[in-house]
Amino acid sequence: MQNARGRVRFLLGSQPTEVELADPNLTLLDYLRTHARLTGTKEGCAEGDCGACTVLIGEVHDQGLRYLPTNACIVLLGMVDNKQVLTVEHLGREKIHPVQQAMADQHGSQCGFCTPGFVMSLAGLQWAASCKNESTPVDRAQIDEYLAGNLCRCTGYGPIVSAAREACSAPLPESWQAHTAVAETTLRAWQNQGQPLCCTSDRGFFAAPRSRADLHTIMSDHPGATLLAGATDIGLWITKWGQRLSAVIYLGQIPELQRLVQNDEKLEIGAGVSLQDASTTLSEISPDLNRLLRRFGSRQVRNQGTVGGNIANGSPIGDLPPVLIALGARLRIASTGGVREIPLDTFFVDYGQQDLAPGEFVESVVIPLDRDLRFRCWKIAKRFDQDISAVLGAFAAKLEGGIVREVRICFGGMAATPKRARQCEAALTGQPLDHETLARARQALATDFDPITDMRASAHYRQRAAGNLLEKYFLAMTTTDLPDLYDEKTWPGLSNQSFANG
Ligand SMILES: Cc1cc2nc3c(=O)[nH]c(=O)nc-3n(C[C@H](O)[C@H](O)[C@H](O)COP(=O)(O)OP(=O)(O)OC[C@H]3O[C@@H](n4cnc5c(N)ncnc54)[C@H](O)[C@@H]3O)c2cc1C
Ligand code: FES
Ligand code: FES
Repeated sequence: MQNARGRVRFLLGSQPTEVELADPNLTLLDYLRTHARLTGTKEGCAEGDCGACTVLIGEVHDQGLRYLPTNACIVLLGMVDNKQVLTVEHLGREKIHPVQQAMADQHGSQCGFCTPGFVMSLAGLQWAASCKNESTPVDRAQIDEYLAGNLCRCTGYGPIVSAAREACSAPLPESWQAHTAVAETTLRAWQNQGQPLCCTSDRGFFAAPRSRADLHTIMSDHPGATLLAGATDIGLWITKWGQRLSAVIYLGQIPELQRLVQNDEKLEIGAGVSLQDASTTLSEISPDLNRLLRRFGSRQVRNQGTVGGNIANGSPIGDLPPVLIALGARLRIASTGGVREIPLDTFFVDYGQQDLAPGEFVESVVIPLDRDLRFRCWKIAKRFDQDISAVLGAFAAKLEGGIVREVRICFGGMAATPKRARQCEAALTGQPLDHETLARARQALATDFDPITDMRASAHYRQRAAGNLLEKYFLAMTTTDLPDLYDEKTWPGLSNQSFANG
């Protein structure tokens, strides 16, 4: 790559900072605590679950600078190049921040270990609320959403929620606004220099190409390198499984992968679009997608993780693939040889095996926007917040005169890959929506999958839940006045009810 820079460059608070990356695996958390001696940011789980390590990452975006709560334990330091990192120390450096004050006022901390993470998440919420310029106060749902990725074992959430309300009704500190204006100017100037990052050491290299062309070049030069997107999987390979990556290519600085383009017929989401950014647009397709993405990890995980990563990792329990398959999505896969487009369901070949050759990467996913499609999806997990699916069912059908003309049903958690229920689809196609069809479709569904028993659910539970989700879909298709039944909280007992209007 031409003009490459060899040191990671970022704003630490308001301080321009350059770091020689001796080890491409260095996490932001380890850098902060060990190298920068900013020990206010804590390490709890080191796997993105507890939020003790939450920091704010400032990045230049279309609308200006924005601050995203992020789990520093699973961010690699090279990923913050040309960005700003704010820790709990930076918030209170000049004058105590309103969130810190509110946590003290409301007794939002006992042992205090989790507190810096909470403070950073709430500072992110206060920032987001102030950007909206709305007079309506932040509501409980927004507070819960911002706190879902922060675990407190001793205070209890009541005082923390009270602190959130108090802090979000206070204005942003004036010093914060002045600092962000300066930070934005610096970050924009750095970005405009257009220099890609390429740090090489005897332990390997970390490269962050800034164009598709540069990506092709560096992938050809290093065919075995690991492609890194949001690191919400890869971070754990390092912190939990002890892997040491020697060649890392970060995709997060390539504008072509960050695009989200929509017209009347289709929505194309670049592989590098974060789950949080994608959620607004996906939610317009169906409110179910809004609910699903709200339950995808936590705010921190969604800010970091990408749509492309959720597909490319080939996980059988990834939340987006079943949904995208049911919607009839196609995957665009790029290499130096050009771009090929495949139906998404053919991408998942077997457990851990995807249709992705060396030198190829996922460029985007294209979702046809078909207004006649009756789409629903449901995630079943043990907890509402921050839990991996035991079963995820996604259903999309087109009806003509009460007859099913076209149907795609896809499940996560039921097989070694996200998988369509082909037998069930066949039992539905060309049939009226009535009790007999449902009974046949349920029987067929039982032959589609042979799920496993693991810590999330037993095989029997999974089969049963999948059948019940099918029945729930039938209810949704055939009944117009059951809104409460769709609510996750009133889930139990549905399969015992007869479905009306068959
Ligand atoms: C606390 C926590 C909660 C989570 N909750 C959920 C959840 O509720 N639902 C869920 O589905 N997942 C969940 N995950 C898993 C993870 O967040 C998602 O799978 C996420 O979408 C991965 O994206 P990423 O950008 O972080 O991928 P990375 O970790 O950067 O990469 C993952 C894999 O994809 C490859 N890759 C990434 N982008 C590309 C590309 N463009 N082309 C080719 N290969 C690529 C990488 O090489 C790697 O093999 C959770 C993870 C954590 C840590
Ligand atoms: S230490 Fe638990 S999320 Fe980072
Ligand atoms: S104050 Fe102790 S874990 Fe939250």
